[in-house]
Amino acid sequence: MSVHINAKKGEIAKVVLQPGDPLRAQYIADNFLENVKLVSKTRNIFYFTGEYKGKTISVGASGMGAPSIGIYSYELFTEYEVDTIIRIGTCGAYTTDLKLFDLLNVESTASESTYAKFAWEIEDEVLIHQGNAFNMINQVALDQGVEAKTTNVHTSDIFYRKDPGVPDIALKYKCTAVEMEAFALFANAQYLGKNAATILTVSDIIPTKEEISADEREKALKPMIQLALEAGIRL
Ligand code: HPA
Repeated sequence: MSVHINAKKGEIAKVVLQPGDPLRAQYIADNFLENVKLVSKTRNIFYFTGEYKGKTISVGASGMGAPSIGIYSYELFTEYEVDTIIRIGTCGAYTTDLKLFDLLNVESTASESTYAKFAWEIEDEVLIHQGNAFNMINQVALDQGVEAKTTNVHTSDIFYRKDPGVPDIALKYKCTAVEMEAFALFANAQYLGKNAATILTVSDIIPTKEEISADEREKALKPMIQLALEAGIRL
């Protein structure tokens, strides 16, 4: 048990897929995994361990934002000997060059967040993916004929803001999209010498206000889940 996860030692696999939403973790467990066990439900942040194509893998939520993924990823890496976390989430596109449903494999993330600085004395405002999960995701995407665009994103602490323009840091680092967790995940992995990647599905186009409807979301996320699982069992 850790402070926020009540699984027993050994009940969480070396590779964890981490959606933001606990119900998405449940959906993945119900629809993609076999021999599944619910191993933690502290705060309704469900963690499941099961098999995908005969390989053991876990899936559990990060919650929203850097503080939340910071807690869960740290406890997974340090208390459960997890080697790799693949975040699977959604993002808002800053540019109409991206389309709804596009898949992004995050190469690096820029942030105004103080998380890395105050947690680990990592002063950089851009952090990169850690280890070989990013490359494996690219390889699996290539093998399966799935397009996953490699890109820089902006990890923001802010979902609602006064100024509708693209924030300076996103312009400075040519970030094509915004989400809220990758920076803290990459910071933890960098500090702890672990592996971390982030795959995102574009769920909204900020300049045009287009968005994937609630009914389309489940279908929309399937290619991302499959890509993460296929990469995850090869790590
Ligand atoms: N902002 C931040 N995170 C997001 C967004 C957004 O517009 N869309 C999906 N995740």
